[in-house]
This record gives sequence, structure tokens and C-alpha cells, in this order.
Amino acid sequence: MCGIVGYIGKQRAAEIILEGLEKLEYRGYDSAGMAVYDGEKVNVAKAMGRLQVLKEITRGGETVPGHAGIGHTRWATHGEPSNVNSHPHTNKEGTIAVVHNGIIENYISLKKKLKNKGYEFRSETDTEVIPHLLDYYYNGNPLETISKVIQRIEGSYSLGIIFADHPDEIYAARKSSPLIVAKNDNGCFIASDATALLKYTRNVYYIGEEEIAVLTEKGAHFYDSDAEEIEKEEIEIKWDADAAEKGGYEYFMLKEIYEEPKTVRDTLNPRIRDNKVVIDELKMTDEEIRSIGKIHIVACGSAYHTGVTAKYVIEGMARIPVNVDIASEFRYRDPLLDPSDLVIVISQSGETADTKAAIEEAHRKGCQVLAIVNVVGSSIAREADKVMYTWAGPEISVATTKAYSAQLIALYLIALKFASVRGTIDDKQLAAYIHDLRKLPQQIDLLLGEKEKIQKFANRYTAAKDVFFIGRGIDYAISLEGSLKLKEISYVHSEAYAAGELKHGTISLIEEGTLVVAVVTQKDLYDKTISNIREVKARGAFVMAVTNVDNPDIEKAADYAVYIPETDQYFTNSLAVIPLQLFGYYVSLGKGYDVDHPRNLAKSVTVE
Ligand code: AGP
Repeated sequence: MCGIVGYIGKQRAAEIILEGLEKLEYRGYDSAGMAVYDGEKVNVAKAMGRLQVLKEITRGGETVPGHAGIGHTRWATHGEPSNVNSHPHTNKEGTIAVVHNGIIENYISLKKKLKNKGYEFRSETDTEVIPHLLDYYYNGNPLETISKVIQRIEGSYSLGIIFADHPDEIYAARKSSPLIVAKNDNGCFIASDATALLKYTRNVYYIGEEEIAVLTEKGAHFYDSDAEEIEKEEIEIKWDADAAEKGGYEYFMLKEIYEEPKTVRDTLNPRIRDNKVVIDELKMTDEEIRSIGKIHIVACGSAYHTGVTAKYVIEGMARIPVNVDIASEFRYRDPLLDPSDLVIVISQSGETADTKAAIEEAHRKGCQVLAIVNVVGSSIAREADKVMYTWAGPEISVATTKAYSAQLIALYLIALKFASVRGTIDDKQLAAYIHDLRKLPQQIDLLLGEKEKIQKFANRYTAAKDVFFIGRGIDYAISLEGSLKLKEISYVHSEAYAAGELKHGTISLIEEGTLVVAVVTQKDLYDKTISNIREVKARGAFVMAVTNVDNPDIEKAADYAVYIPETDQYFTNSLAVIPLQLFGYYVSLGKGYDVDHPRNLAKSVTVE
């Protein structure tokens, strides 16, 4: 996700900003920029590419002199990586400069209103509505103006702001996206996280939800969203720089698992308007949606697993036939595609070679390709005909977690959009599905609260040799992901099986004490899966069930149960996957492995 650094004080701001942004490079970014007040005006320097480019164009900060400034590294969400989309963004006169981390969910409607009032936009970003809104409401008092603006924007934001007519102050505000304030004898700082500031001080202030900070050379004052001053406790950072990068978590994987509620919200909320699913990026008319003959979902690894879930969801809701293919198979099997078919490719990195090749094969057969991608401007995003971005932010750990969850949300939205256009669900059903989707973030939070319970159970299996994951329907898709998470980071052999398939051979591998993880969330298949649980228990297995909180029969069947909150059957993967991600994480941790960098694996498989 984006990085923010700001400074006001005795020293030159540019050098401090560049150094701070360097410490935030781990967050992943595609462009960088800064705005510094030089005593008369605000100078902006920004460029696509690495931080080194910004250093070169500012000659290490020389071309942007001054003691008050804000800086930014951008992880693109809305608008390709480019110079014009880089932050800071300013109002037309260049007297207000803003850097932003987060997603403005209502930016389209705000942009429309501002355009109607004569405002011109230069970028494709959601962020650019902020400097124009500040300009529109500006009454000469920045604090009052910021208070007004943050009450009109929906979504997540951490903001650094400078006003040319208030050169002795810089401003900050946040909601859902972290931002801290610090001070030392030389001045005051803002930063997305402590990593950028540990060189200067370990004493920081955390800006609270919808709070505003006003920084001067001497210190900082804090205000609530109504511009009422509030007191703030100073906190001492005890982490080292490495831990600070991970936000205090031991590994990025756990940090990213904890980001899943936000990731689900960020990918979902901007696409739900007036209880309807709005996917502007689809660029498909209702007629085109109604004329889709078949859907082919093509991906690799965990992305493929979300496709297996999507088959059940799309076929169940929209009644469109769905094939799901592993990209390395699809690209060489001369697939039977019809130009009326829609090919959907899924990729976190947007650089997976086999998935890129699948796009070429689809195009050879005359099909339109929709890509569900996390990295804006990546190869797959550019080569597909349509792109639906997941807004998970950069995913650092090799084992995907939050991007997987975001992909599921994107696929649910596609299923709902297609089903409502094709009339296979009515408005009442749509509203009910949307209601359940909106509950997922806080339900994931609830499941994260049980991490110690999962850790305790996982510690019993660090010496396991074979673990089996079984399930039926969507539960089989969840089993595939649970098995991969365990395998790829703990090196414990594991297999996922359609529960009804075990008795056709593999059940011979079940011995006394073999762990079988049974995913049992599809109510109409409870009895069938429970009978499979009994089959493996009869052969000595120890069964951990992941099931719905209201499943009355599981206690009698399984040895250990993890419960997920109530949600629609189509969405249980988004919840059941959380304990399975944690299980894999804690088995790996218990074995003392480097969870984020498992052996033999790369974050993006850019070769065949
Ligand atoms: C999942 O944890 C793995 N990192 C791997 O299976 C990954 O999902 C697969 O390589 C696909 O990567 P992509 O989503 O970037 O295309």
C-alpha cells in the first residue's frame, strides 16, 4: 500500500522525506513524489518508477527547498502507474497539495459534482477529488476545511496536506488507513508507519479514526472530525526497524491475514451502490452479459482455487456453465472456446507466465478476456480486454492470503452482477446476498480473534507427515486452498480431496493419528461429509472440522471443531479459509521456518 512521510521544522524537508520514503519502500509502490513549501509557493516533484527517479529529478531534494513538505510512494489502485497519477495531487492553483493512502469509495460521485462546479481533473485517481474538495470548501481556515471534507468522503484515507497560505503548518487526517505523528527537537513528522521515523524518534502519536493533526515546528495538536481539540497520549515504539515494517507482526503473512477484513471491505464497498452491484470495469452491456455462452476461468495455484469456488457460485447464482482450468494445462490443450464465451483469468501478481499465455490462447480463439488482478498496470492487466482490480494492496508474503480473499469478493460480485442481469436472482435475493457480503469483514475479525486456539492446535502437528483436507462442493475448493497453504510454507505433505472420492483409493493412506481436516460448511452436504468423516475415523484418523456455528451434528463426528459465523452458503470460503491460513502459518512457525520466504518458491512465477 502507499507510503506517506511529512515534515515541518528546522531542517530541509526534502531530504527527510526522501529518507523516510526509502524506509517505506517495502510497502510496495510504482511511483513517488513530494510537495515542499519554499517560502513563497508549493513546489511539486513526482514521477513514475522507483524512488531513485524522484531523487534524480530533485537532485536529492535540492530543487525542492523548504522546511515544510509531504511525500508519497504510490501503490496504484485507481489509475495506472504514471507521472500524472502519482501523488501529491493539487488544486488548480497549486496552493493545496495532498498525499493519500487508501480508497475513496465515493470518488466517482464527488468527481461528478466537482466537475459540474467547473473543476478540472488531470489524473484518473480517486485521490484527486481531495485537493479540489479542500479548494471548494476552503474558508482560509485549513482545520475547519479539512473537518468539512473528511465528513464528505467515504472509504479509507490517511492524508498529508499543505496549504500555501499556511506555511508554518502541515496537516494530517486518517480513517482506516494508519498514520502516525512524531516530534523531536528539530521539528514534527507524519508517516504511514514507524519505520520511516525510527531514525529521529521512538515517541509517536497515533492519529485516531477520523481525527486531524496540525503540525508546526514546535509540536502537534489533535482534533476530532468536528475540529474540537483532543488530547493524545505519546507512545514509545519498542519495535526494531524490521518489526516495524511488518507493523509489529513477526511475518508479513500474519500481517496480511490481519489485513483481510480491510481488503474485503476495500474490494467490495466501492462496487455496491444503492444495494446494486456496480462493476464499471466490466465494460459489458446487459445484452453482452445475457449473451455469454460459457465462462472459462483460468489461473494458477491459489488463484485457481478461487476459480474452483467461483464455478459453484456463478453456476449456482447465474446458471452460466463454468469451466475452471489450471493455466499451464489450458494453454496447451487446444481448449474448445467459442467467441461468445467469456474467459476470466485471475492473478495477484499479474505476471504469471502460464496465465499470461492463457490470455493469448483465448484471444487466438476469439474470446474476450476479463482479468482479476491485484497489481495495477501489470502485464496481465494490460493484455486482458477488461480488468477488475482487487484492492488488497501489495502482498509481500509468498503465500497469498489477503489477495486470495479479495479475489473471492471480485468473483462473488461478478456472479451477482451476471445473475441479476440475467434475472436468475431477484432484487430481494440480491439484497440478501449483499447483506451477507457486507458482514464478512467483521466476521473475519471474529475468526482472527481465535488465532491462539488455532496456534495451540497447529503446534500439535509440526511433526505431521501427511495431512488430508476433504470437502464437498465449495468445501472441496476450500480444502484445496487449505492444503496448499500448509504445504507451501511448512513443507508437510498434504492432499485435498473431494470427500466422496477418498474411498476410491486414497483412504488406504489413512493411519492411526493421521490428521484429516474436514470442511463442512455446505448444509445440504452435511450428512454426506459427516459419513466420510466417520469412514476416516474408523481407520484411525484424527478429524478437525471447519464448520458452521450452527452445525448440530459435528460434535459427535469430529474430534475437534473450528466454527465459522453464519453466512450464505456461497460465501463460506471467505470465512473457512481464515482458520486454514492460520493453521498453515502456525505449523510453519512451529517448525521454525521463514514463513514469508518458503524454499523453492517465488512470489510471482514469471517463467513456465
Ligand atoms: C499461493 O500461496 C502461491 N503463492 C501460488 O500458488 C500463487 O497463488 C500462484 O503462483 C499464482 O500467482 P498469481 O496469483 O500471482 O498469478
